[in-house]
Amino acid sequence: MTDYRIASIPGDGIGVDVQIEAQKVLDAAAKRFGFGLEWTEFDWSCERYAKTGTMMPEDGIEQLSGFDSILLGAVGFPGVPDHVSLWGLLIPVRRAFQQYVNLRPVRLLPGTTSVLAGRSADELEMVIVRENSEGEYSTLGGRHNSGQPGEFALQEAVFTRVGVERIIRYAFEVARTRSGRVTSATKSNGIIHTMPFWDEIFGEVAAEYPDVKSELTHIDALAARMVQQPDRLDVVVGSNLFGDILSDLAAAVTGGLGMAPSGNLNPERAYPSMFEAVHGSAPDIAGQGIANPVAQVLAATMMLEHLGETDAAAAVNAAVEKVLSEGVALTPDLGGKATTAQLGTAIAEAI
Ligand code: NAI
Ligand code: MG
Repeated sequence: MTDYRIASIPGDGIGVDVQIEAQKVLDAAAKRFGFGLEWTEFDWSCERYAKTGTMMPEDGIEQLSGFDSILLGAVGFPGVPDHVSLWGLLIPVRRAFQQYVNLRPVRLLPGTTSVLAGRSADELEMVIVRENSEGEYSTLGGRHNSGQPGEFALQEAVFTRVGVERIIRYAFEVARTRSGRVTSATKSNGIIHTMPFWDEIFGEVAAEYPDVKSELTHIDALAARMVQQPDRLDVVVGSNLFGDILSDLAAAVTGGLGMAPSGNLNPERAYPSMFEAVHGSAPDIAGQGIANPVAQVLAATMMLEHLGETDAAAAVNAAVEKVLSEGVALTPDLGGKATTAQLGTAIAEAI
């Protein structure tokens, strides 16, 4: 029997609610497929920040480094500025563990009505490959002339050849396992240094994959296309910012944020990867027991796949689809009246 050591960071808001359900579902899958999951919980959160002044202890990264994987709820809560919570926990983990791929699959699941009514499941299935270690999310820059009429803020984006090339290459590899199509998000007409550099490297990598169809599309047109012709998209690769925005949009045109999982991957497996829902801590519904746990359950499924437990992952996916299509335990965002725990338990029981 293989045992996996998993670091669990529920975080804030509904992160805590959905994490319990994801663990419930994975424990059911582990029991059925005969492997062990050893959960170690960390209370790193905005609540911890309020008490101690830091989101995680100074040796936090070191503490996580021995685990096989990390499952994260969500971080961020009113009272702590979002840049503090994000840069105090999530971004340091992504960077220290070189989780340079942020993989965000989206598909139309049964029991959900897309805002694009009438679209079938195969027209609404794509995966966003988001650069997760550099780009627009950078600490370079500053604020100057504070309080004066000439006050300004400057924010630099960082695009390295290594960083751009490896994420684009990853997207082409994913495309080979799917439709054989990659669309790259650019904005080289407006952003005249980093984006032409990105496009150039995209062209170089594309030349190495003659079997994969590729195209560059400006981010604004791409956003419109995702709504109007989603069937034209399959693998979409974008920088940190573009990938972030596109994946929320992709989630919105399918079942909404409650259904969209993501993985922060270190493809070389030199460090643990981290899995989380695309959504945040949703303070507007936190503590009410009505958050949809499916996104976090599907993130946990991505973790099982990454660990090599593909049969267990397939069983969880099937259980999610079964429960959603029966429609008896749907949370309010799906038009039902079930609680977070009722939907989570239904999925665990279906396994
Ligand atoms: P959010 O994703 O938390 O919520 C956006 C909207 O979607 C809200 O109306 C919420 O109720 C709804 N929603 C989200 N997940 C849901 C679920 N599972 N079931 C039902 N409804 C759901 O985004 P928002 O409001 O921009 O951010 C809230 C906090 O979360 C902020 O502090 C932000 O920084 C943080 N955040 C953290 C992320 C992370 O940990 N990776 C990602 C995004 C935001
Ligand atoms: Mg986002």
